[in-house]
Amino acid sequence: MKYPVLSINLRKIRENARQLLKMCKESGISVSLVSKVLAGDRKTIGDIAGLGFSQLADSRIENLIAFSDINLPKVLLRLPMPSEAEAVVRHADISLNSEIEVIKLLDKEAAKQNKTHGIILIFDLGDLREGIFFRDDYLEEVSEILKLKNIRLLGIGTNLTCYGGIIPTYENLSELIKIKNRIEREFSIKFEIISGGNSSSLHLLPNIPPGINNLRIGEALFLGRETAYGKILPGLHQDCFELAAELIEVKTKPSYPIGIMGMDSFGRVPEIKDRGLMKRGILAIGKQDAALEDLTPLDENVLILGGSSDHLLVQLNGDFRPGDTLRFAVNYPGLLRIMTSKYVKKEYLE
Ligand SMILES: Cc1ncc(COP(=O)(O)O)c(C=O)c1O
Repeated sequence: MKYPVLSINLRKIRENARQLLKMCKESGISVSLVSKVLAGDRKTIGDIAGLGFSQLADSRIENLIAFSDINLPKVLLRLPMPSEAEAVVRHADISLNSEIEVIKLLDKEAAKQNKTHGIILIFDLGDLREGIFFRDDYLEEVSEILKLKNIRLLGIGTNLTCYGGIIPTYENLSELIKIKNRIEREFSIKFEIISGGNSSSLHLLPNIPPGINNLRIGEALFLGRETAYGKILPGLHQDCFELAAELIEVKTKPSYPIGIMGMDSFGRVPEIKDRGLMKRGILAIGKQDAALEDLTPLDENVLILGGSSDHLLVQLNGDFRPGDTLRFAVNYPGLLRIMTSKYVKKEYLE
């Protein structure tokens, strides 16, 4: 079986990686390669890991295990589940944390495994996902962390534009620097890592608050755009990935369903416009593999109508027949789902 297939253009991803690393280096910023969208794809990550990234970061331990032979420090991006402390210490060198109880569990595990586990303490600057809320007191927690023998507090960080859509600005990232300065002064320590966010922080470069020395980058690397405003990054490719699926039916039929309308296969009442007769195609790919709104046809004669778990329905203008393949661009959530689907094959272009 050949289709559906995702083409992964390794050359373009390499070029993106080099350009991003250069852009960040010019501002004194190291880049953690965020691999989560590739769902553990060893080949693609192995191809770029050696280009100058400071760490390899993923939200899931299973993916870090898939990359265990890659020679970069491994970072767990999602706050550890207390129940996975053993695996976190075993498979990640560093994890992002915000809960003292969990950090103590990691310390215990690290002692058992005769290791030192690095942590980056995360502060929530207003996006309201993970992190110690920036207006709360944090010195007590830091003081407790510093007492732990098998934990090394490497630095602090933040994550924005994930839940609340809050854009990193000079002002809000300066709050992180204030926190850094206060902790360093209070405890006479010097942090190694001040991690100023993800692809949504890139729009600030080169005018990012001094002191920020790391970003954790996924989407910009793979899709060539920053994520605060969705602007393309100069010199980066936006088309490193392309999905191809195969037509299994092509027929001229009405555009509006006939009969009493209830729910579709996903339990929703369809909203369909009557546009008369149309040439309709069915592709052998469905919502199990990708949310249809995350796909954009690359042929202007193709329009997505809808779909169900295993079928994607399109309107076709022109000459198409079963067995023809149609190509689609994918956005970041689309790529994540496609990479996760065991039914979509992968093809690597060198
Ligand atoms: C904590 C954390 N840091 C960094 C990233 C990377 O984000 P982006 O893909 O927007 O660069 C993510 C999300 O993937 C994340 O959850």
